[in-house]
Amino acid sequence: MKVTKAVIPAAGLGTRMLPATKTVPKEMLPLVDKPVIQYIVEEAVASGIEDILIVTNRAKSAMDDYFDYHPELEHRLERSGKLHEAETSRAVADMANIFYVRQKETKGLGHAIWRAKRFVGDEPFAILLGDDIMYTEQGAPALTQLIAAAEKYECSAIGTREVDDEHIVKYSSLKIKPLEERIYDILDMNEKPTLETKLSNHAIMGRYVLTPAIFDALENTAPGAGGEIQLTDGMRALLGRERMVAVDFNAKRYDTGNLCGFLEATIDYALRHPEAGDWLRDFILRKAEMLK
Ligand code: G1P
Repeated sequence: MKVTKAVIPAAGLGTRMLPATKTVPKEMLPLVDKPVIQYIVEEAVASGIEDILIVTNRAKSAMDDYFDYHPELEHRLERSGKLHEAETSRAVADMANIFYVRQKETKGLGHAIWRAKRFVGDEPFAILLGDDIMYTEQGAPALTQLIAAAEKYECSAIGTREVDDEHIVKYSSLKIKPLEERIYDILDMNEKPTLETKLSNHAIMGRYVLTPAIFDALENTAPGAGGEIQLTDGMRALLGRERMVAVDFNAKRYDTGNLCGFLEATIDYALRHPEAGDWLRDFILRKAEMLK
């Protein structure tokens, strides 16, 4: 199984980060010196993905512009000898073949993914949720770990993470059976469970490798949690027909879709930044002394 296509749903309204996201797509908010979406595209590319479809909406054209050349800026930088900056700007546009489709109505994650049907065709493909940034210091990126499991078991593989009760009700839950270290057979799943209906504290977490059979399943999926067409409900239908495994991938996960998660990611990435890291470490230590 070779996975070369990925879908990034990015058509959400970004209501958890208002007013910053009133006119700037939440995917374009800067995490230190790059927009959030770039980290997602970099993970996909590092996992062997060549073609990426971003599902957008009418308020997100800043994203299309970002992954394009900017000749006026780049020529100006070149003329003033800032060759590295010009190259950095152009490299963003050359990272992958990026395609766009609009989700014309906000009808849920399952509906957004369904928009990728023609792009995906008849191949297994990856999904990376734009809010979930996965950091791996060494070793394979989160998506690579999923692709390896999908190849090994020749089936769909989805990311999972054990979370506490406060979070499981905001995500989804999985009924699973251990298969090998960090990999489980999936027996059942549900979206936005209550503490009574949760199947375990293993939530689905931001990364998926799915077979194209998901599109038939989504076509017949009725609106679920929040009145939206849920990807989880489509996958649950697929589970009746195909094997699926869950991978508790080895990576630090940041939820940049809410303010605290965004701040945590900002500080951690800034601390790792080659130019700003040492300065920030000293600043935080001085600040902590003052706050004592
Ligand atoms: C989405 C998915 C959910 C998953 C969560 C975290 O929910 O629908 O199954 O657990 O992302 O990756 P959302 O955060 O969009 O409500």
